[in-house]
Amino acid sequence: MVTEQEVEGLGQMLLDPQKPLQARFRALFTLRGLGGPAAISWISRAFSDDSALLKHELAYCLGQMQDSRAIPVLVDVLRDTRQEPMVRHEAGEALGAIGDPEVLEILKQYSTDPVIEVAETCQLAVRRLEWLQQHSGEPVAQGPYLSVDPAPSAEERDVGRLRVALLDEARPLFDRYRAMFALRDAGGEEAALALAEGLHCGSALFRHEIGYVLGQLQHEAAVPQLAAALARPAENPMVRHECAEALGAIARPACLAALRAHAADPERVVRESCEVALDMYEYETGSAFQYADGLERLRPPPS
Ligand SMILES: [Fe+2]
Ligand SMILES: [Fe+2]
Repeated sequence: MVTEQEVEGLGQMLLDPQKPLQARFRALFTLRGLGGPAAISWISRAFSDDSALLKHELAYCLGQMQDSRAIPVLVDVLRDTRQEPMVRHEAGEALGAIGDPEVLEILKQYSTDPVIEVAETCQLAVRRLEWLQQHSGEPVAQGPYLSVDPAPSAEERDVGRLRVALLDEARPLFDRYRAMFALRDAGGEEAALALAEGLHCGSALFRHEIGYVLGQLQHEAAVPQLAAALARPAENPMVRHECAEALGAIARPACLAALRAHAADPERVVRESCEVALDMYEYETGSAFQYADGLERLRPPPS
């Protein structure tokens, strides 16, 4: 059992801008693992921070916790146009992840947000909630990954056909996401290379999700494409961020070189992502610190 004082200690660590970002992330992941109203309240308070990276991770964690008590704060963040697009995006996605149909109307409202990443996120979240309603009562097929994804994996298993669906920009984003998660679940080099091709598709939201999924898959074959996307200064920072984290998760020597090359990037969210990713690299290669309960998406699937 964790005492109230220990939860408070974690909360204070999370809120303290003087503490190293890595330490604040670890506090966040521990709070997320603990769950409950006190953890949600501490996490909610950190949305006044000025690191978009930290704030987007708060929203991500609240979504993964799937606790309806986090809905009000997530709606506030989605509505708040002073928050960075990446943070509002993650709040919208988290509202979809929680799975409560009460947020359908607000998500429909923000499906036409002028910020394209926010609009596309809300469109996807609406589709997810509708899909859940249509399939309620059916047994859920649990894939090898523990994350709550913005779309269910496609039923198709053939990697070649999934690749075609993934890269077909005429298809609805929701269907392409379903192909993306099915490719991740399939795993292997062919799937990793098909996903990496997605880093050249049109939607920044789609490309960032490719980065995320490649981080879960942790296949070395995707490293050159991830490093190239991280190195493109014109690429959307949200995409570059996700590629940096994926490189940290794959954790091979070539990844370390790419991350070090951007550890002083002019884009803050990229720089901070590299910092956190280098820390994760040390974790993956067996360093002192254990990431408490947080980045299951960055770990290999349970065998
Ligand atoms: Fe995201
Ligand atoms: Fe992210």
